[in-house]
Amino acid sequence: MTNPTHTNAWKRLSSLRQRPQSISNIDSGLRQSDDISLDISKSLINDDVWDELFNLAREQNIEQWRDKMIAGEAINFTENRAVGHMWLRAGERTDVKDALSHMKSFVEQTHANQKYTDVVHIGIGGSDLGPRLICDTIKHLPKKMNVHFVANVDAADIEETLKPLNPKTTLFVIASKTFTTVETMMNAQYAKSWLGDLSVAEHMIALSTNADAVSDFGIDTNNMFPFWDWVGGRFSVWSSIGMPIALAYGFDVFQEFLNGAKMMDDHFMHTEMDSNLPVILALFGIWNRNFMKRSALAVLPYAQNLSLLPNFLQQVDMESNGKSVDRNGEFITDYDTGPIIFGQAGTNGQHAFHQWLHQGTNIVPCEFITVNQTPYNAKHHDILNANAIAQSQAFADGFESMDDKHRHYHGQRPSVKLNLKDSSPYSIGQLIALYEHKIFVQGVIWNINSFDQFGVELGKTLANKVLNKT
Ligand code: F6P
Repeated sequence: MTNPTHTNAWKRLSSLRQRPQSISNIDSGLRQSDDISLDISKSLINDDVWDELFNLAREQNIEQWRDKMIAGEAINFTENRAVGHMWLRAGERTDVKDALSHMKSFVEQTHANQKYTDVVHIGIGGSDLGPRLICDTIKHLPKKMNVHFVANVDAADIEETLKPLNPKTTLFVIASKTFTTVETMMNAQYAKSWLGDLSVAEHMIALSTNADAVSDFGIDTNNMFPFWDWVGGRFSVWSSIGMPIALAYGFDVFQEFLNGAKMMDDHFMHTEMDSNLPVILALFGIWNRNFMKRSALAVLPYAQNLSLLPNFLQQVDMESNGKSVDRNGEFITDYDTGPIIFGQAGTNGQHAFHQWLHQGTNIVPCEFITVNQTPYNAKHHDILNANAIAQSQAFADGFESMDDKHRHYHGQRPSVKLNLKDSSPYSIGQLIALYEHKIFVQGVIWNINSFDQFGVELGKTLANKVLNKT
């Protein structure tokens, strides 16, 4: 539990930062997992710096922390909880296997009965963003049911969603780990009354860890699909929270998504640091955040169906690593933790904030995500990918125009590129697990607990007080 600034590698990295970065020996090699490659040739990090970054990861005992996580130690020590999202896709634990087979038989029965045409998933934060993202990402696949998501406590969300739907053919999925979240409970009550005389037992199911609250709400606990306190909300898409994915696309598709994540877990567990994709991506972030003092990170998926990825990562990354107390209980005063995450799908973002990325006074490292094979029109795809390549080139190389400074691009703006083989559930599972592990690695280096989220509590308490006064 070391302050990272006390490591030898940190000190050497600080001195490397003082020297002008020679980019002549930048590694141009690709790092590869099963279906994802990572191109670091435009990271603007030279080999000396990479070597020290790997030393920093070693000094901060990444591998030991990773092993503690998989062994079930309560590394979320502020809540005295294990961190078990990898167990959800390992296919080993009996409780997980039982939960999956309960889910599978419900999904298969629902499809066989053909009673419902529409699923409305009600949840927020980790109980919404994961399944919403995945359903959007694989929407080229054949659908078994229409799926809708409601999160906001603004009634506009639920009212507009329900307008075209028929209560008789609608199944509500109420997703809440705690089953106390105000937004979700408010929307669930609204849904219940929208059902009128129809039976709650037939039209509502729950995804939760809180059986008492589910049954107090009126949902039959036989229709409750459990998960466990060792699954953090933002890491819960692999649990029963993934139900809408299975309902919309079939249980096999959900299983493929889990298999992809397991593949990335194996890569993370067994690959040397200098070829380990989550570790490399994490270190790219550490260099930029802590040594180049970049306060933001742009996530740029060049894939329309991945357009929700930045939203999803905002929670996984910023709720995990937006911390200023270390594992020793001390305020962090001498280094920075997680950056601002923002982004949107390319090429749309090029016509919005890329002006700022190219010529603004702040430098923001970028993570490009591209997909090799598309199920859509190939000509569009060529233009899309050409743009991704062009943008990263422009960021790195710039364009010299000193006679007209308005047209000058400084360049020297770092980026990396993740390239997915395709947008199958298997590849998407790998991508999401890669990001989870990246965030874990950064949290270990920063010596923080990435698995609690006390920063969201004060606002909830105050909102209740405000409400009670009105
Ligand atoms: O935003 C705070 C938070 O606690 C998240 O961590 C969580 O994903 C979300 O609220 C929803 O919580 P629940 O699943 O308990 O409704």
